Amino acid sequence: PSSETLERLHSMFTINSEKLNQIVKHMIVEMRKGLQADGQALLMIPSHVVNRPTGREVGSFLALDLGGTNFRVCEVVLDGHSGARVRQSKHTITDAQKHMPANELFDFFADCVRKFLIEGFVNVPRGKEEAELQARTWKLGFTFSFAVNQTAIDRGICVYMGKGFVNPGIVGSDVVVLLQEAFKRKNLNIDVQALVNDTTGTLISHAYIQPSTRVGVILGTGTNCAYVEKMENIPKYKGDDAEYAKEMIINMEWGTFDDEQVVIPRTKYDKRVDRTFNQEGKATFEKLISGMYLGEIVRFVIVDLVKNGELFLAGGSPELNEPRSFETAFMSRIERDHTLDLNDTRSVLEEMLKIPRTTLADRRLVKTLCELVGKRSARLSAAGVAAVVTKMNKLDGCTVGIDGSLFELYPHFSNRMRDALREILGISAENIVLEQARDGSGQGAALIAALANEGN
Ligand code: BG6
Ligand code: GLC
Repeated sequence: PSSETLERLHSMFTINSEKLNQIVKHMIVEMRKGLQADGQALLMIPSHVVNRPTGREVGSFLALDLGGTNFRVCEVVLDGHSGARVRQSKHTITDAQKHMPANELFDFFADCVRKFLIEGFVNVPRGKEEAELQARTWKLGFTFSFAVNQTAIDRGICVYMGKGFVNPGIVGSDVVVLLQEAFKRKNLNIDVQALVNDTTGTLISHAYIQPSTRVGVILGTGTNCAYVEKMENIPKYKGDDAEYAKEMIINMEWGTFDDEQVVIPRTKYDKRVDRTFNQEGKATFEKLISGMYLGEIVRFVIVDLVKNGELFLAGGSPELNEPRSFETAFMSRIERDHTLDLNDTRSVLEEMLKIPRTTLADRRLVKTLCELVGKRSARLSAAGVAAVVTKMNKLDGCTVGIDGSLFELYPHFSNRMRDALREILGISAENIVLEQARDGSGQGAALIAALANEGN
């Protein structure tokens, strides 16, 4: 590839420090607006969670966790000493399930719970499981990782589903009612006591083991952030607890940041991705950052380079031209490829994507492209974190718990975030600890159900 191609790509995808700082400033302005009134670009949803765990919570709770790629059922037993025993089952959500009507999807959830409960019965004689199910009751926390206008700790209307979910009957409905009705249809005595976003769940479960945690971030199929805000800074919140609670967790729904497109530079490839996924013009920040979209951005660039004769002189392939065929997981593999000949990159391109022939120069160019798109994602995520800790006045120190497949599996992601945080915050960046939180939001939902119980 010519150095001209490389330079062009570099300048397209690089977000310099100055721009990062503008993004941070703009996000803080938008956060304030969202806390002031409803209907702003950043939803800044009050979670109704006003306490952080102390470690003394006790009891046994069920949790359901619908995230980006998986649905989990968990049973969490809190021991009162910051410990928890967790049993869980995990189901990958299929494409069909992302399209099915609400009732069918929620029936599937209830069926999974039924099976899970029966599997957990010990000392229950065979044939007596049904009687045991009917004799018992359970309390449950529900992690639902979509934008929900939360009207109480256990109530909320779904306002928007991204990440490829287009189930008729969910947007506009109270998802706790949907779940409670499904439990009724399936004869399960389960009381849904808390409805929680995955970011809130991550924050709470990480705070359980690391009390300095004030922020929870998801970097996975989608991206979002929740943080602890002072009650006096949430003028739009009019609930009863506004009187006595000192703080509340806010679910920012930062995926829709800059939907008015005023601050983040977008390339023609980003715009193409925006047009081809559902909800054009929505989730601008998420579409530049999260796992659902990064591979597709790279694919659009590659297709263009092939068309211009700048890559794969022997031509592309039908597979490459297939929408979403270039998964973000391929980028991870390519970025992790340190062989001299870039052999793993070759196998992604020639075996998975059936490109007839690649040269070392081709593979290097593809690797550089992945680096550019992956780095941009990490730098934008860091700008988000910088905005949040600055707005919170926590530059003197706090912990950010981060979960999701991108943060966990994409090489160099956290280092790139740290570098960008240093560029933005200078020396204060050293006080901000980015920590991996793993599978925590189910446990978080159980903890929040426990906290809700204490309040009753
Ligand atoms: C998980 C949480 O650990 O991370 C989910 O429990 C969350 O609720 C998720 O959505 C992010 O997952 P993914 O599949 O988008 O990487
Ligand atoms: C999407 C959802 C949001 C969730 C995030 C991460 O942005 O709207 O609620 O937290 O994905 O899973």
